[in-house]
Amino acid sequence: MQLGTPLSQYLIEEQRLYPEATGSFTLLMNDIALACKTISAAVRKGALVDVLGNAESDNCQGEQQKKLDIIANELFIKNNIWRGHIAAMASEEMEEVYPIPDGQPKGKYLLVFDPLDGSSNIDVDGPIGTIFSIMRSDKENPTEEDFLQEGTKQVCAGYCLYGPATMIVISIGHGTHAFTLDPDIGEFVLTHKDIQIPEDSAEYSINHANRLGWEKPMRQYVEDREAGKNGPKGKRYTMRWVGAMVMDVHRILMRGGMFAYPIDEGIRAKGGRLRLMYEANPISFLVEQAGGIATTGYQRILDLKPSGLHQRVPVIIGSKNEVTDILNFHKSYAEQNSLEFTHKCRLFS
Ligand code: AHG
Ligand code: MN
Ligand code: MN
Repeated sequence: MQLGTPLSQYLIEEQRLYPEATGSFTLLMNDIALACKTISAAVRKGALVDVLGNAESDNCQGEQQKKLDIIANELFIKNNIWRGHIAAMASEEMEEVYPIPDGQPKGKYLLVFDPLDGSSNIDVDGPIGTIFSIMRSDKENPTEEDFLQEGTKQVCAGYCLYGPATMIVISIGHGTHAFTLDPDIGEFVLTHKDIQIPEDSAEYSINHANRLGWEKPMRQYVEDREAGKNGPKGKRYTMRWVGAMVMDVHRILMRGGMFAYPIDEGIRAKGGRLRLMYEANPISFLVEQAGGIATTGYQRILDLKPSGLHQRVPVIIGSKNEVTDILNFHKSYAEQNSLEFTHKCRLFS
């Protein structure tokens, strides 16, 4: 596949690898790309049109909704509901499963999404994104239970980043690839093929304000980096935090690093900050397909059996050697405190 290949051609060439394919997945992906282009167009206009600021509502998780959270959610539904490729949808902004209305054709896929990631960046003209995950369903009328599949079962994971350029990054299990929206032709074209996250890095990304509540392994990891050249890593590190997971992860896919929203005492009761189904799982799939690691510290994220649509989990992802250091700290901590540790990968100890 050459750089410059349009996303629509990439999808058809992938489809041809499976002679039994009906083309439904290809069409669904085209609908998602259209939804992202439509959101991108709204984002680009910013304050020129009425898309900034708060809405007069909270979402089902008690978070203040921004106008753009609601607009992006509606655009995603609108562009996907009528084509007949989906059995049901679920989103950060909707408490329950959103069924395809009776009378509309239904398909075999489940679509889960975070319509607008990094909402706190909307009003400051910062980077934001959309995250999505596609799974299979064998039910005519899927329920929440049908959505609660391990991340390993995702058929496709992806995000769209509304940064200086609009980019879609996807994986259908054959590597992670990035397509940049060419505004002149209105098409996403392949610009980053088979992304490989560098194994080493000197950059990490974490909300330091939560530091006092972190568990010992996370504190140990950051303290080692803060020690710089005189510390155990023998090099100077830098820290980056955009506050939109899509952007912080995109940086890691492009040049390596470590991103974490670990457990801290302030959020322990909730299970974490980021949501498993539409944040942690799709991002972990993309990261693993690019040669990185994705873990809660104790378990591989993609192996978790979800307990609910809006379940939250700790997230630690990125360059192999950085995340392996963190896993080693968790492994020792788990042994000392009789905690379960199941993440299997290349550990040094
Ligand atoms: P969302 O805007 O969809 O609610 O997600 C925001 C998430 C994630 O993208 C980001 O990494 C994190 O929240 C930021 O958290 P802090 O506000 O603690 O920095
Ligand atoms: Mn989000
Ligand atoms: Mn969101």
